[in-house]
Amino acid sequence: MKKYLVIGNPIEHSQSPLIHNHWMKKYCLFDSIYEKRKVEERNLKNIVKEIRDNEIVGVNVTVPFKKLIIPFLDKLDSTAKKTESVNTLFKVKNKIVGYNTDEPGFALTMRELFPDANNSLMQKTLRGKNIFVLGAGGVTSSIIHTLENEGAKIFLSNRTKKKAEELKKKYTEIKVLDWGKRPSICDIVINTTSIGLTKDEEIKIDFSDYDKNFHKNLLFYDLIYNPKETVFLKKARLRGNKTMNGKMMFLNQAKYAFNIWTNIMPEIDDEVIKLLD
Ligand code: ATR
Repeated sequence: MKKYLVIGNPIEHSQSPLIHNHWMKKYCLFDSIYEKRKVEERNLKNIVKEIRDNEIVGVNVTVPFKKLIIPFLDKLDSTAKKTESVNTLFKVKNKIVGYNTDEPGFALTMRELFPDANNSLMQKTLRGKNIFVLGAGGVTSSIIHTLENEGAKIFLSNRTKKKAEELKKKYTEIKVLDWGKRPSICDIVINTTSIGLTKDEEIKIDFSDYDKNFHKNLLFYDLIYNPKETVFLKKARLRGNKTMNGKMMFLNQAKYAFNIWTNIMPEIDDEVIKLLD
């Protein structure tokens, strides 16, 4: 059997096995199986050894190990290096390589959201857009990486301001705001914090009077997809704003990871999308 894993802590909530096992069946990889495993930090070294020894073929890494796994790897792809975040492991020519597929997963989601901007390949999808990012945790650097590449102006706010300032050292297009403050103009608000993972948990920032003139065009985007609608998104929807959860980004990162392991670019069709409902 070819074994694949997602590792994290907690891991019970992970939907990755559902998606990858579906694709493995669909593309007739009947000798492959994808499982979840709860691990502790002290187990990371051994997970990498299991890949080295061909006991595991590929691994997805999730919270809180995306950065902690890095010292055990032989090589990183360029995005993983810049973001210091790894979510996919695979052995290539006897080297254990760490990849970041969250970043291209989010970039693709943005390009699909703003297709008009893609008329020219040279066009940056988010040029001229003001984007307010909440949080500075493990996944935030991947989001910022895309936003900067796509030409956005970024406002960043995190409860622990120091972590936002650390990110600013690596990405020039950031203005750091105190937690609770909002930029005066904004096209998209993105929640990258973990607030909302537990039902009814709420971000204590009031957006109710936010940007009245552009109310309808303002997009509230939450990386969380389970629950499907966080309080952050629900309130925005009730105010008449556009909303989107993290489902497509999750599926896109899974698609790129599957491609790294199998060379197959799996299809994100209605059947896969429905698996997460
Ligand atoms: P880590 O910070 O260890 O990378 P994470 O789950 O990747 O963990 O990130 C959690 C994010 O949600 C952080 O931005 C965190 O803010 P702090 O850096 O101040 O901890 C944010 N977060 C979690 N709970 C929060 C809360 N109750 N209020 C504000 N921000 C919160």
